[in-house]
Amino acid sequence: MMYLTRTLFFGAVHRLDQSPTGMLRTMGHDYKIDITVKGKVNKDTGIVVNIVDIDNVIKDTLKKIDGKLLDDEVSFFKKNKPSVENLLLYFWSEMNELFTDAKLERIKIEQTPFTSGQIVGDDAMNVYVTKLFYFSTAHRLHSNYISDEENIELFGKCNNLYGHGHNYKLEVTVKGVPDQNTGVVTHYKKFEDIVNENVVELLDHKHINADLEIFKDVNPTSEMLLYVIWDLLYDKIPNLYKIGVWETEKNYFEFYGPDHV
Ligand code: NI
Repeated sequence: MMYLTRTLFFGAVHRLDQSPTGMLRTMGHDYKIDITVKGKVNKDTGIVVNIVDIDNVIKDTLKKIDGKLLDDEVSFFKKNKPSVENLLLYFWSEMNELFTDAKLERIKIEQTPFTSGQIVGDDAMNVYVTKLFYFSTAHRLHSNYISDEENIELFGKCNNLYGHGHNYKLEVTVKGVPDQNTGVVTHYKKFEDIVNENVVELLDHKHINADLEIFKDVNPTSEMLLYVIWDLLYDKIPNLYKIGVWETEKNYFEFYGPDHV
């Protein structure tokens, strides 16, 4: 099976909650959308599907919402709040049956650099929403369970006695069926507050080994960091699905919880 992704962009406006004066308040976004289809390679042509055919399906769909005030001008969003979640469900229902020679596999929407969502073919009832957080933290990779020589050999310059720092990016993903009334999977203000208060404030501008009791005897690798962050969040965020940490632009770690195999 081969997977193929096309990336396009569209702009749309949605309403914000009504102001006390009754004035129309709106917010606009430039959305980025990735459409992934899958299929078998045709041995004669060497392709899965003509990219022009995919583009035509996507562009016909985008035409219906590009540049529109979604709540007022697109009938689907008169009944469903134009959240990232409902945009994903809208695109899925609009496009799912339209591809020939290929099957719709995944849609990803980026609303802002900090908020993105995804819907996947084998479970298109649920949507995934990811929020991005930042923290800058120092650490020293050093295990108390192996010798100093072994630490130097294993961690090299990351074992530097006084540590080194990273600008970490933390992705927190929730999964679920959007609420009928609110259009979202979780209460984002609460969700962001929980991550900021429990994780970002704990780690930002700290030296992990020296400042955090929890890492007194734990080597602060990204793997161990994910375990700790998961424990801080899993019982506070009901629909928590995944956490991901970018230690550098080149190193990315993901954890789906201890029960996920
Ligand atoms: Ni490091």
